[in-house]
Amino acid sequence: MKRHGTIGVNERGHLEIGGCDAVELVREFGSPLYVIDEDLVRQNCRAYHQAFIEGIPGGEVAYASKAFCNLAMARLVIQEDLGIDVVSAGELYTALSAGADPGRIDFNGNNKTPDELRYALESRVGRFIADNFTEIQALDEMAGSLGLRPKVLLRVQPGIEAHTHEYIQTGKIDSKFGLSIATGQAMEALTLMSKKENLDLVGIHCHIGSQIFEVDAFAQAARIMASFMSYARDSLGFPLPELNLGGGFGIYYNQNDSPAPVRDFAQAMYAALRDEMGKLSFPLPRRISIEPGRSIIGNAGTTLYTVGSIKTIPRVRTYIAVDGGMTDNPRPALYQAKYEMALANKMLAANQIVASVAGPCCETGDMLIWDAAMPWVETGDILAVFSTGAYNYSMASNYNRLLKPAAVLVAEGKARLILRRENFADLVRNDLMPEHLLWNQGKQWQKLTLPEGEAELTLPEGKAGSALPEGEAELALPEGEARVE
Ligand code: LLP
Repeated sequence: MKRHGTIGVNERGHLEIGGCDAVELVREFGSPLYVIDEDLVRQNCRAYHQAFIEGIPGGEVAYASKAFCNLAMARLVIQEDLGIDVVSAGELYTALSAGADPGRIDFNGNNKTPDELRYALESRVGRFIADNFTEIQALDEMAGSLGLRPKVLLRVQPGIEAHTHEYIQTGKIDSKFGLSIATGQAMEALTLMSKKENLDLVGIHCHIGSQIFEVDAFAQAARIMASFMSYARDSLGFPLPELNLGGGFGIYYNQNDSPAPVRDFAQAMYAALRDEMGKLSFPLPRRISIEPGRSIIGNAGTTLYTVGSIKTIPRVRTYIAVDGGMTDNPRPALYQAKYEMALANKMLAANQIVASVAGPCCETGDMLIWDAAMPWVETGDILAVFSTGAYNYSMASNYNRLLKPAAVLVAEGKARLILRRENFADLVRNDLMPEHLLWNQGKQWQKLTLPEGEAELTLPEGKAGSALPEGEAELALPEGEARVE
């Protein structure tokens, strides 16, 4: 197990993160619990700031908020002086609510709805990354109707196949993202954009995939983009001043992963650009952006679970079931992602068994870790899974009506709640009871409330509020959770 950031072991032999005892964290906040190491997030932001913003003329970094998006995270990124990349109105709303400068927000995505385009335009986001012809048309019309002329980059496919899981690859020709240089569609789109009155065409964008370790893949993408910029200048008759090279920098999840330092990526990308632009006698872009997500938050997250059932199938396998799984971390099920773990309350104990960690969902694939060496495990132990900061909370679901975990931000011995644990009222908050279901044995139910005003089940207009005649039967709900008034 690799110790990222402030991870350590305290004198009680317990896992410690940000100076907080992990076992105490579970006692206080419950489990599963996402624990976010504030120092490491800041350190990662600073590494990008130094390498790209201070290290490259015109360099800009926008945190890809899809990796972990909430008010506190957005705020940290803003405090560390990075921009924010959003892909939906929801992410945009979160970034703006956290106080982001709209001018440093990039709006990505392959199917921005008319409502999203309008919201982003009215919010004055800094740049739109247009993905396809439909969007170019829609954005031009919407911008015109609002009397605006936004800066726009075109997402192009450089045709690079980086070594990563197929579902996470985004730079190849057969992809739903962007327009291909090779097919000529990218140039066609740029020509079209350059003629649109309400679009300020400033550059091109690419993203070659995610969890990529090869520094060369990024350098190669930079070269292809540079030469395409030069070709585009010749076709358009004017140079495009901005280049966005996306995100995708790989992180350590397990022993097979060996990520290069951020500055290596920065230097390789910049050197490739300079070299290629030099050969083509083309000026370096005025703005060179990247959009890292995972590499800013991934290693800063640890998920704590409580061990429940333990089942040993003789000569086959031991299953250690914990109180979370694919609902808070779908990555093993989706991408066969492999994580490292430890028993937070037994950090000094020697490994004794090999076992697999399972979640509680009704799915055979609901596994967190296969065949890991660990100390003797007992029900009630606290199991920590590392490097769960990216794409865990953001892809969490309520499958089996499990509650989404809480998250705490830890630093210098203090834990601050940044995401409240969901409760049962949250689960039924958006549930509606259609009128015809209110009837039971010919009698009409009227108002259903949850205890202590936690949440109210919305009923059709005119039906709520009036009391039931005495002696009416009760609607069966989990004990103590709800009642009929
Ligand atoms: N920019 C664009 C246009 C992207 O599509 C992505 C990620 C990023 C930036 C940030 O990439 P990062 O630096 O985080 O690798 N759910 C998958 C990852 C999907 C990534 C999608 N796009 C996973 O859990 O591995």
